[in-house]
Amino acid sequence: MKPRKIKDNIYWMGSVDWDRRLFDSLISLPDGTSYNAYLIKGSEKTVLIDTVDPSMVDELLTQLENVSKLDYVVSLHAEQDHSGSIPLILSLYPDAKLISSPMAKGLLMEFLHIPEESFITVSDGETISLGDKTLKFIYTPWVHWPETMVAYLEEDKILFSCDFFGSHIATTNLFVSDEARVYEAAKRYYAEIMMPFRTIIKKNLEKLAALEMAIIAPSHGPVYPRPAFILDAHKDWIEGPSKNLVVLPYISMHNSTKQMVDFLVSSLVEKGIAVEQFNLTVTDIGKLAMALVDAGTIVIGTPTVLAGPHPNAANAAFLTNALRPKARFLSIIGSYGWGGKTVEILTGMLSNLKAEVIEPVLVKGLPSESDFKALENLAETIATKHKEDGLI
Ligand code: FEO
Repeated sequence: MKPRKIKDNIYWMGSVDWDRRLFDSLISLPDGTSYNAYLIKGSEKTVLIDTVDPSMVDELLTQLENVSKLDYVVSLHAEQDHSGSIPLILSLYPDAKLISSPMAKGLLMEFLHIPEESFITVSDGETISLGDKTLKFIYTPWVHWPETMVAYLEEDKILFSCDFFGSHIATTNLFVSDEARVYEAAKRYYAEIMMPFRTIIKKNLEKLAALEMAIIAPSHGPVYPRPAFILDAHKDWIEGPSKNLVVLPYISMHNSTKQMVDFLVSSLVEKGIAVEQFNLTVTDIGKLAMALVDAGTIVIGTPTVLAGPHPNAANAAFLTNALRPKARFLSIIGSYGWGGKTVEILTGMLSNLKAEVIEPVLVKGLPSESDFKALENLAETIATKHKEDGLI
């Protein structure tokens, strides 16, 4: 694709990666992604903000064919999907200086072997003049690594936010045209890489609140012509109350745990509680992560196998613990044959959660009438807790 004009002398560059289905060899990308770079031509200086994943650098090079001089390349974030092509760009524009935070400088030198003399480091709040335009750099740690910063083009009120506010969508739309679709993709993105750091990200949001923003230009997905849309969404995900929702990842080997799941779901729904259940043999983990953003309660369903939780359930617990959702309550259900330490292992794996553990229901073999009664009590307890917390 050719460079696309955002405003006079401000262009989107980069690549739309329609085919990529996995990020960091971990995160599923059902809708592909894009790597957005931005070219700003000031009256005196020209700057390229970020680059693209090295696998797609040829497209960026074609877009730069008519750009005879770059004064600065900015690296807002050292992860290679944005920085990986910087060495090649610097080799083509040997007079360009690389602007980064001091922490990013260290990472870029280590990850990409960029020589120290290429860098100009900027402090939090520092500005650089491009002549008739001014770029201000604002540190925003943990969106998505500790070194990350954003750049604010003061005269045009454009925030270049890199991973912050991104969405993994491959699209030919330069600007967001379907907010509902982007909301879904941005929520998945937030859940998978930002949610663990939401306390710090809340501070970043507060820091940016002072800026007047006409446009937010992230490094993944389309550009936001209505920043309030994505700012409000992040506020809700980060600090909004949990929802009246039970998220229930589960796996069953011989249908006993499945019967328990079915009974519990039915009982919760009867009590006015929404449930999202995820069979871990077929689940898109990104969908589970998105549901965890809103969960009031998490219940993990697992049989006991090899004296502990099923490995798929352990994987879901590990992910949940790493993502640190704001869920208020947690429980475990499942069936065992002759013993094991399923509850101890799983609760130990979920120690990052600030959630109250509601008495688990573990049953021997196929659930009996008394076991269903225990599940009914669990549903009742969850309903009571949700009412006490104002979720119902
Ligand atoms: Fe899009 Fe953290 O890289």
